[in-house]
Amino acid sequence: MKVKFFSIIAIALFVYGCTSFTGIGTTNPAPMGNTQEDIKSGDAQIENLISQMTIEEKVGQMTQMNLDVVGVGDIYKLVEPHRIDTAKLHNALLNWHVGSFLNCGGHAYSREQWHSLIGEIQRVATTETRLKIPIVYGIDAIHGANYVFGSTLFPQQIGQAATFNPAMSKKAAEVTAYETRAAGISWNFSPVLDVARHPAWSRFFETYGEDPLVCSKFGVATVQGYQGNATPVDSLHVAACMKHFLGYSGARTGKDRTPAYIPEISLREIYLPSFKAAIDAGAMTVMINSGEINGKPVHASKDILIGLLRNELKFKGVAVTDWEDIIKLHMNHRVAPSIKEATFLAVEAGIDMCMVPNDYDFSKYLIELVKEGRITESRLNISVRRILEMKKALGLFDHNAMPSVQAYPNFGSTASQQLAKDIAAESITLLKNENKVLPLNTSAKVLVTGPAANSLTIQNGAWTRTWQGVDAQYNDESKNTIMESIKLIGGSNVSFEEGCTLYETSNAAAAIAAAANAEYIVVCLGEKPSTEKPGDIDDLTMPKAQLDFVKALKQTGKKVILVLVQNRPQLVNEIVNDCDAIILAYEPGDYGADALADILYGKINPSGKLPFTYPRHNQSMIWYDHKYTETLDQNFGNNAFQPQWPFGFGLSYSEVVYESIRLDRDTLVGPNIINVSITISNRSDRAVKESVLLFLSDRYASMTPAVRKLKDFEKVEIGPNSSKNVTFSLRRADLGFIGEDMKLTIEPGDFDIFIGERKASFYYKNY
Ligand code: BGC
Repeated sequence: MKVKFFSIIAIALFVYGCTSFTGIGTTNPAPMGNTQEDIKSGDAQIENLISQMTIEEKVGQMTQMNLDVVGVGDIYKLVEPHRIDTAKLHNALLNWHVGSFLNCGGHAYSREQWHSLIGEIQRVATTETRLKIPIVYGIDAIHGANYVFGSTLFPQQIGQAATFNPAMSKKAAEVTAYETRAAGISWNFSPVLDVARHPAWSRFFETYGEDPLVCSKFGVATVQGYQGNATPVDSLHVAACMKHFLGYSGARTGKDRTPAYIPEISLREIYLPSFKAAIDAGAMTVMINSGEINGKPVHASKDILIGLLRNELKFKGVAVTDWEDIIKLHMNHRVAPSIKEATFLAVEAGIDMCMVPNDYDFSKYLIELVKEGRITESRLNISVRRILEMKKALGLFDHNAMPSVQAYPNFGSTASQQLAKDIAAESITLLKNENKVLPLNTSAKVLVTGPAANSLTIQNGAWTRTWQGVDAQYNDESKNTIMESIKLIGGSNVSFEEGCTLYETSNAAAAIAAAANAEYIVVCLGEKPSTEKPGDIDDLTMPKAQLDFVKALKQTGKKVILVLVQNRPQLVNEIVNDCDAIILAYEPGDYGADALADILYGKINPSGKLPFTYPRHNQSMIWYDHKYTETLDQNFGNNAFQPQWPFGFGLSYSEVVYESIRLDRDTLVGPNIINVSITISNRSDRAVKESVLLFLSDRYASMTPAVRKLKDFEKVEIGPNSSKNVTFSLRRADLGFIGEDMKLTIEPGDFDIFIGERKASFYYKNY
C-alpha cells in the first residue's frame, strides 16, 4: 500500500524563512526573470472553456487526488475489490471540480478493473459536470506498466542504462505506454531524470546512473517512446513526466528528501542537462523535487520553477507537485506557518497542479487566496491553460479517449516479453571472471544459493505491483527466478539451497553440505526492494550475514560465482577476492533470470557496462568525472581514486581490442567538427556487443576541469574474429564547461580523447 507517512514527520530545518539562496535564475537571469504571463493560446475550445470557468472550477483543474479518496472504504484501507464510492466521486467532481486523479489503491489491477474505475470517474466528469471536462489519470509505470496485472516488467532504469543502448529503452517505453494506455491511463510519471550522485540514495535504481549524458540520451529515448510522434498523442501513447525537477538526487547524506547543497555550477553541469534534453524532445509534463536545494524547497522556488524552467528552458507543459509537497512546505520544510501559506508559496512559485492528494485543503485555500486577492485569477489561467492543453493533446476531449481493453491485443505479448529479456541480457554486467570460470558448461554441477536466488520480488525491485514491491502475493509465478532459469538449462546438474536470507545465515550449513556435490556455487545476494523514505540506509555495506555466507562458501574450495541483485551498489569489497566471478544483475525484472542463465551458460555474451562508479569504501564515493585533486593520495601520488569498479566497466567472454584512435584533424577551429574514428576488433569465436565510450579531458581550464567526461557512446555488434569502425563527431559545444558566469564556456587549449585504453589529442583554437 502506498502510504506516504513521511509527510507527518517534521524534519527539523535549519533555515526558516531563508532568503539567502542565490537561485539559478538570479545569477543567469532569463529575459523575463521570474515572471510568467497569462497569454491566450490560439485554441478556441480551450479559451472558450477558460472564459466560462469559475474560480472553483479553475482551482479544481489544478487539483490532483488519490484514487483512495473516491473509493469505497478509507484512504489506504479500501474495501476489496476496490470500487468507486459514488457519493465521494460526486463530491470530488461536482463540488470540488477535481481535474486529475492518480495512483492505485495500494496494489495493481487488471486492465478490466482499471477500466471500470477510471471509466466511472471519466463518465461523471464528461457527462455530469457543468463543463464536461475530462479528467487526466496519472500513474507510476516505472519499469513497465507495473500497476497493471499481466503487463511486461522490464529491468529498472539503472539496468537499462547499463545496456548503453537507448534505442532499446525507447522500444521498452513504447511497450510501457501501450500497456498503460490499455488500462485507460494516459499520463505516466516517468522517466526519472535525476542523476545518481549518491550511491546510498534509495532511488538509485530508478535513475540512468551518474553521468549527465547517459541520463540525457536515455531520457530523450524514453520520452519519445512514451509520447510517440503524433500530435495529438495517439491512443497508443502517453504523456511523459520528467522527474524530479531539480537536484532531487543530490541530498548530502543520500537519505531521501533531505537537504541538498548544490552550487549553481554543478546544478547546471550535472543535474540540468537531462531535463533540458527531455524538454527539447517535447516532454509534456514535469514533476517537482520534494526536497530543498541550498535551504530553499524547490516547490517554493520561483528561481527554479519560473526563472529556469519556464523562462530559460522554455518548458511549456504542466508542472505537477510531488506527493503532498504543499503540505510538506508547512509540515516538514517549515517555510510556511500554515498549509494556506504553503499553498500561496507553491502557486506563486509556479506549480500548475497539486498532487494533494488526500484532502481538499489545497482547493479550499487556493480559492480563498484568489477571493482575498492574494493570487490573481489570471495566475490560475496560466496553469489551467497548460492543463487543458495537455488533456487536449492526449485526445481526452475526444469520445474515443479510452478505447476498450480489446483495442490492445499486444498487451503482454511474447514480443514485448522478448524485448524485456533482451534488455536484461544487454544490461547484466560481468565484473570479474577469473581464469575464465564463466561461461559454465551445461554438464557442470552447480549449486544455486543465496537470498536472491529464488525471489521474483528481489529480481523486480520496488514499483512492482505495489509501491515498495515487496508483497509476494502479486508476483507472477509463471516467471522464472534465477534458480528456476538456471535449472531450465542445467537440469539435474543444478541443485538449490537458499542458505542465507538477506540478514541471517541460519541455513548456511545446508548450503555448505550441498556444495560438496557441486563444482560451482552460484550465490545470489541482494537487497530488500525499497524506494523513497522506506529505502533510507545508514550503511552501504552489504549486510554482514551475506558477506559471511560467501566467506563460508569460499571455504568449501568450490568456484564461487557471485550474482548481485540490488537497488544500489552495496559495498562488497570484503568478498571480492573470495569470488571467481562476479555479475551485477541490477533489478532485471520478470525475464531477467532467463537472460542471466543464458549469460552464465554462454548462450549470451555479456555486454552490460556500469553506468556508475561502483564504490569500494563508504568514505570514497568519488564519481568518474572527479577533479584532479581527488586523485591525490596520502603519499602525494595520484592513486586516491580506487573504486571497486570504474564507470563504464564490464567484461564479455570475448577479447575485444581497441586499435588506435584516428582524428581527421589535429586542430579544431571555431565551429568545425572533429571526427574521431576507432577500429574495434573482436578476437574471439563468438559475436560480441560492445559499448564504445568516448571520454574527453580538458587539460587546463579556468574552472577546475574534470579528469574526464563522457562525450558520446555507441553500442556496436562485432562478429566473430572481425572488426568494426566507429566514428564520433565532436563539436565545439562538446568542449565546453559551465564558467564562472554560469554560461557555457569554451576555452582554447589542448584536449585528450580516451576510448578504451587508447588516447589521442587535439588543440582547440577560438575564432
Ligand atoms: C514519488 C514520485 C511519484 C509520486 C506519485 C512520490 O512519492 O516521489 O516519484 O511519481 O509519488 O506516486
